Amino acid sequence: WSVSEEQLDPFSLVADELSIITKRLRSVVGSEVPKLASAAGYFFKAGVEGKMFRPMVLLLMATALNVPRHELPTDEVQETLTHKLRTRHQYIAEVTEMIHVASLIHDDVFDDADTRRGVGSLSFVMGNKLAVLSANFLLSRAFATLVTLKNTEVISLMATSIQNLVAGEIKQMTVTAEQRYSMECYMQKTYYKTASLVSNSCKAIALVADQTEEVAMLAFEYGKNLGLAFQLIDDILDFTGNSASLGKASLTDIKHGIITAPILFAIEEFPQLSTTVDRGFDNPANIDTVLEYLGKSHGIQRTMELAMKHANLAATAITSLPESNDVDVRKSRKALVNLTQKIITRNN
Ligand code: FPP
Ligand code: MG
Ligand code: MG
Repeated sequence: WSVSEEQLDPFSLVADELSIITKRLRSVVGSEVPKLASAAGYFFKAGVEGKMFRPMVLLLMATALNVPRHELPTDEVQETLTHKLRTRHQYIAEVTEMIHVASLIHDDVFDDADTRRGVGSLSFVMGNKLAVLSANFLLSRAFATLVTLKNTEVISLMATSIQNLVAGEIKQMTVTAEQRYSMECYMQKTYYKTASLVSNSCKAIALVADQTEEVAMLAFEYGKNLGLAFQLIDDILDFTGNSASLGKASLTDIKHGIITAPILFAIEEFPQLSTTVDRGFDNPANIDTVLEYLGKSHGIQRTMELAMKHANLAATAITSLPESNDVDVRKSRKALVNLTQKIITRNN
């Protein structure tokens, strides 16, 4: 069996299905109010639909968990059920992307961000009012799709992920001086802001497939640790990336006084750095000072190590799944494991 030798590309395994989801996303955000339709559909247009990272993970997870739990009477029944289940999984992927996009639209309002995905942010192009309203519209549309699955636990998981997104954002907005320098607070906020949506939607994939609570927990753990690793790398790239490769301005966190892991680790080595951070960043010279300390410290390296720890935990969740000899199942699991390494080495 050679799949383990192959470098499976997570994206190409589900590329065809992702384009189905992209098309559906474009059609579900319609409205009889033209301005609302164009605002809600803004990030689903060709060229700005983004990496579709979450739908990709969810579709791979759906296949990775494809371990039949019941003997089925005929192959025909099996096939019909498999097809129906796949459609339900695609709906979860679609809903997750809508929630994600709604959170990005809100985020750009709070961050006064002019650009997103290499184009003008929705708030920049259409103004804050239309941005906020159309993001709310997207959330409502997402739930309209979600309820058709008729699974209350899944609805509850997705609702939790939105509550966590909001809580994470407000946590970040309202940190006290003490919380600002706490790694624990930072990780909690990071879970809320980035990992909760992935972890809860991964769990939803398992529940819709009628998997055991144990399998559902492994799916959740994968999403959680992948999300945490992803955000830790994102926080590194905010310092080391540039606007051309990121499609968005760098140093945004620090400029907004948001202290992330690289700085928290740097402060552990150079406690005097917190004095500069406390002064705020109205004066650009303070940013230079912080960057100087960061360069002298192991802040970036230690953040990278923490990201790797979570990436490995994510990979372990996949390898702990009940064994399967199905080629597709094994391919998807391998791709999910590869993905944990890919996000560590990404540079945009
Ligand atoms: C990006 O963070 C922002 C998020 C991942 C979520 C933000 C959540 C909200 C704004 C709460 C409202 C959400 C909903 C669904 C009602 P960032 O600013 O660190 O990253 P960026 O560099 O991509 O801007
Ligand atoms: Mg932002
Ligand atoms: Mg933000």
